[in-house]
Amino acid sequence: YFDTVSLAPADPILSLTEAFKADKNPEKINLSVGVFVDQSGVTPILETVKEAERRILEASTSKSYLPMTGTPAYASLTQKLCFGEEIAESLQGKVTSLQTPGGTGALRVAADFIAKNTSAQTIWLSNPTWANHKGIFGAPGLKLGTYDYFDSANLSLDYDAFLKSLESIPAGDVVVLHGCCHNPTGVDLTPEQWEDVAKIAAAKKWIPLVDFAYQGFGDGIVEDAAAARIVAKAGLPAFVCQSFSKNLGLYQDRVGALHVITDDASNLANVVSQLKISVRVNYSNPPAHGGAIVTTILSDEKLTEQWHAELKAMRDRIASVRTQFVDALKAAGVEKDFTFLTQQKGMFSFTGLGKEQATALREEHSVYIVDSGRINVAGITDSNIDRVVAAIKAVL
Ligand code: LMR
Repeated sequence: YFDTVSLAPADPILSLTEAFKADKNPEKINLSVGVFVDQSGVTPILETVKEAERRILEASTSKSYLPMTGTPAYASLTQKLCFGEEIAESLQGKVTSLQTPGGTGALRVAADFIAKNTSAQTIWLSNPTWANHKGIFGAPGLKLGTYDYFDSANLSLDYDAFLKSLESIPAGDVVVLHGCCHNPTGVDLTPEQWEDVAKIAAAKKWIPLVDFAYQGFGDGIVEDAAAARIVAKAGLPAFVCQSFSKNLGLYQDRVGALHVITDDASNLANVVSQLKISVRVNYSNPPAHGGAIVTTILSDEKLTEQWHAELKAMRDRIASVRTQFVDALKAAGVEKDFTFLTQQKGMFSFTGLGKEQATALREEHSVYIVDSGRINVAGITDSNIDRVVAAIKAVL
């Protein structure tokens, strides 16, 4: 019966962790998947999360289903975190928020909704973008296009080309934007540039979809929310897909949110009804535990403060690793100038290394990076930095 099944290509990111796990070299280093590790090489459970889990364990009385859209408390708290109190308040009646299984779940529900209910002809993705965007938006049969973003010669933003691309996108289409900590390049827009983007969206009448998976990993919770807040404030119809995998370290709990903003309050009930259909046929209703953790933390001032401090520590570590890494490459006599790494934001950087060099790093040095040349900077520690630098020097 399965004779007709062909072998699918391996996932460009997650397959590398499988290969990493199978690698027998005790000194192997995984800089592929976007997972934070601390100085000791561990992906920690935040203390704030541990405390929230203790409280949940103590207080929970049932494991009955959640509503298809998750709990109202989760919706309201995540709106405030994403948009800030004031904008969240102004959106009431025009926004609906769903608890989803991770950011991926939010993107997939949005993709299904767009495919079935809107006039979008094409979904426009950043060039380059997170590899899974293509799979997620392609899955319900949406046509994919790309907009210019990255200048690979200078390893920086090609702002003119980006704006030109955005100007040419037809009305009604959806444009997937990286809210902060662009994945894979680490190259972000300034708030002023986001204002330009919002103006173009309003003039050309295409719909922004902000993929917002790294709030707090770039410059701070408020600073990183510029894209989502500017788009919302502009009164545009929009989608925002939020994830708590990274900023709360809840990777395996699969917790995210989809916020959909309408420009006409009278459409909201219809929008909600269709989103529920997509949820129901995909996973029926969201898993509760991760959402309960987020709700417990965000509804308690002390826990929120503690989380902010832990998030800052993660953010500061990434920033200091960037500087340390650039210095170490220089000190090792690597000729290529990697200073650009210190200007990039979040976990990821585009190193400018190519597929051949990525393969050599993996096969000859057991250093795992994505074939595109993307590295997870947050995977570098004091105890592996010298080996990473030596391996990069060797493949250069
Ligand atoms: C990544 O890009 O490495 C992360 O977003 C994890 C993933 O699911 O790919």
